[in-house]
Amino acid sequence: MERLQKIIANSGYCSRRKAEVLIESGKVFVNGEKITNLGAKASYSDQITINGCNLKLENKEYILLYKPRGVVTTTNDEKGRKTVMDLISTTNRLYPVGRLDYDTSGLLILTNDGELTNLLIHPRNNIEKVYVAKIEGLVKPEFIKKMCAGVMIDGKKTAKAKAKIKKIDKKNNFSLVELTIHEGKNHQVKKMFEAIGYKVTKLKREKFAGLTLSGLTSGKYRHLTIKEVKTLYSLGKK
Ligand code: URA
Repeated sequence: MERLQKIIANSGYCSRRKAEVLIESGKVFVNGEKITNLGAKASYSDQITINGCNLKLENKEYILLYKPRGVVTTTNDEKGRKTVMDLISTTNRLYPVGRLDYDTSGLLILTNDGELTNLLIHPRNNIEKVYVAKIEGLVKPEFIKKMCAGVMIDGKKTAKAKAKIKKIDKKNNFSLVELTIHEGKNHQVKKMFEAIGYKVTKLKREKFAGLTLSGLTSGKYRHLTIKEVKTLYSLGKK
């Protein structure tokens, strides 16, 4: 059982606030009974009617995809490139939670649960993202420290981040750096390294909101368990 306004918002019909207005104005019926109390609860199997129309409760679906490089994080690409939707089989209309660049690989969640999507992308919730970046050249620890303290990208200072230098390969002239951030600005990782004079030549997201790519190979996906979905929801309550 869940609050009626939450069920309505979860169905994608409207926002929770709008659902509250509809309930209070007597437009919502549950199993034929008019509900005007905002504390009322219902279940997903109840017949919910709004303005005389039955509410269609879409099945919620949650996919964890190991996105390969060379795939766009949109549902439809105007240039005809392969999209993340081409990699999964579903009858639901799913949307990616945030985005990874065309040339970035790694963990991407896709879902039709708008509420969870909002929770996961809202800066207030500080959702943790862990990336491994391959950097051209040999990184200097003091530069990485400076980047972690915050650098200017697109006119704003980035929040504090954590980094671990995983490899400095003198022979092949590259470095591997693991970077943990809680923001999700456009091309954030590449721009953070750029701000300290380094070029990212390869980027992979290894973790998102505590989830990992464990058990998956590039291009493959799995469904989240109910327990994992509940854990993700709990990240919004802190
Ligand atoms: N930061 C980037 O620069 N690119 C991504 O795809 C994700 C984070």
